[in-house]
Amino acid sequence: MQSEGIPVEGIHDPSMQKENITSNITELIGWTPLVELKNIASKEGALARIFRKLEWHQPLSPVKDHIALLMIEDVERRGLIKLGLTTLIEPTSGNNTISLAFLEIYLIDPAVGIAGLFAKAEELVATRPNNYMLNQAMNTMNPRAHFQSTGPEIWKDNAGKVDIFIEGAGTGGTFSGAGQFLKEHNPEIKVTIIEPVESPCCLGAARVHTRFKESVLALFLLRRMLAWPMRSSQSRRKSP
Ligand SMILES: Cc1ncc(COP(=O)(O)O)c(C=O)c1O
Repeated sequence: MQSEGIPVEGIHDPSMQKENITSNITELIGWTPLVELKNIASKEGALARIFRKLEWHQPLSPVKDHIALLMIEDVERRGLIKLGLTTLIEPTSGNNTISLAFLEIYLIDPAVGIAGLFAKAEELVATRPNNYMLNQAMNTMNPRAHFQSTGPEIWKDNAGKVDIFIEGAGTGGTFSGAGQFLKEHNPEIKVTIIEPVESPCCLGAARVHTRFKESVLALFLLRRMLAWPMRSSQSRRKSP
């Protein structure tokens, strides 16, 4: 029977087929699909073409797979953690933990905010043996991972035709790493952060927890930050 759809060379001839299998899931990180949001662009009357990078196609779902891998490889190489012995502690809203594949979760009262979250993580590291905090908010491997992967992926998949890069930010690591890569390839590219008003990390961190802005958030790249209320259509603009 003739197969339909996309022709695949040699598909009926086993001698021409090569295995396309990995036994190392980390090799599947990256090169997530890019989709053009034509209906949204047309509905909004946008002059630009709008693309969305589908990061949930990562092996463990979030964009954080990139940084989880690089942060772990870095501390392993430096002998700071040991396989089977060290427990990794991470202050996070959740997704970075999924990428790091933690098993134990401490829930804290959201009212304590970012400062309380860090305080709890630091307390755990200080009081328990063989605990190590990777700390995505200060870890330079966070933006570096996106400089090495997310940035080049966006550049290549758009064939270098990028005018504006917008990130829905948490730590700002994706913005900083991918943004820096894109700026190095075309300084005219505009880079913007959007974050929920209700959960400010980049905008709020500057006030609440300066560690964010000192470390992974490349403020020098930033021209515009949009704080977007999740429960209303009003937006508020702020520049550093
Ligand atoms: C699913 C998801 N996407 C994006 C982000 C933001 O990434 P970044 O911390 O690099 O700004 C986060 C977390 O902060 C996240 O959990």
